[in-house]
Amino acid sequence: MAVQVILRPLEYEDLPDVKQWYNDPSTLMMIGHTPKSLTDIEEMVEQMEQTKANIYVIESRQHEKLGWIHLTSINQSHGRAEIGLMLDRHHQGQGHGEAAMLQMLSYAFDHLRLNKVFLTTRGINEKARGLYEKLGFKIEGTFKDHCFVNGKYYDTYFMSLFESDWRH
Ligand SMILES: CC(C)(COP(=O)(O)OP(=O)(O)OC[C@H]1O[C@@H](n2cnc3c(N)ncnc32)[C@H](O)[C@@H]1OP(=O)(O)O)[C@@H](O)C(=O)NCCC(=O)NCCS
Repeated sequence: MAVQVILRPLEYEDLPDVKQWYNDPSTLMMIGHTPKSLTDIEEMVEQMEQTKANIYVIESRQHEKLGWIHLTSINQSHGRAEIGLMLDRHHQGQGHGEAAMLQMLSYAFDHLRLNKVFLTTRGINEKARGLYEKLGFKIEGTFKDHCFVNGKYYDTYFMSLFESDWRH
C-alpha cells in the first residue's frame, strides 16, 4: 500500500525542526545552502510568506514530523507557483516525498486552479530529480555549471509540470 502522509500548516514551534532538517550535512550538500541559525530560518520563512506562500509540515499518520513542503511565489493571475520540499534524513527514501508531492500538486491544480508548478534542482541531487521526473516534471531549462560542490561544478535544472500533463 502507498505511504500516506498528512500535510498541516507550519507553526512557529516547528521552526527548530526545520533548522535541524536544513542543517543535516547530506541535505546541505544537495540544496547548497550554508548552515542556518534559528533566526535565519525565521527570516527565510518570513521571506517565503511575503511571496504569497502555503507552507506545510509533512507528518506521518502517527503525527511524527517528517519534513516540510511549500508552494511559494503563488501567482494567481499567471496561474503558477514554485514548489519545494525537504525531509528529515531519517525519513528519506521511504515514499514520503512522493506522497507529499502528490498531495501538494493536487492542492495546486484542483484547489488553487494553477496552470503550472515549477522548481529548481541541482544536477548533484539525483534523488530529487528522480522524484520530480517520476511525477511528470520536465526540464525546461539548464543553467550550466551553476553550482560548485566538493570541488566540482554541477548544472541547475529549471523543471515544471503543467496541469494538463498532470491530468494525463
Ligand atoms: C529529495 C527528497 C524530497 C525525495 O523524497 P524521498 O521521500 O526521499 O523520495 P521517495 O522515497 O518518495 O522516492 C520517490 C521516487 O523518487 C525517485 N528516487 C528516489 N531515490 C532516488 C535516487 N537515489 N535516484 C534516482 N531517483 C530516486 C524514484 O523515482 C522514487 O520512486 P520509486 O521508489 O518508485 O523508485 C528527499 O530525499 C529529501 O528531502 N532530500 C533532501 C532535501 C532535498 O534534496 N530537497 C529537494 C531539493 S530540490
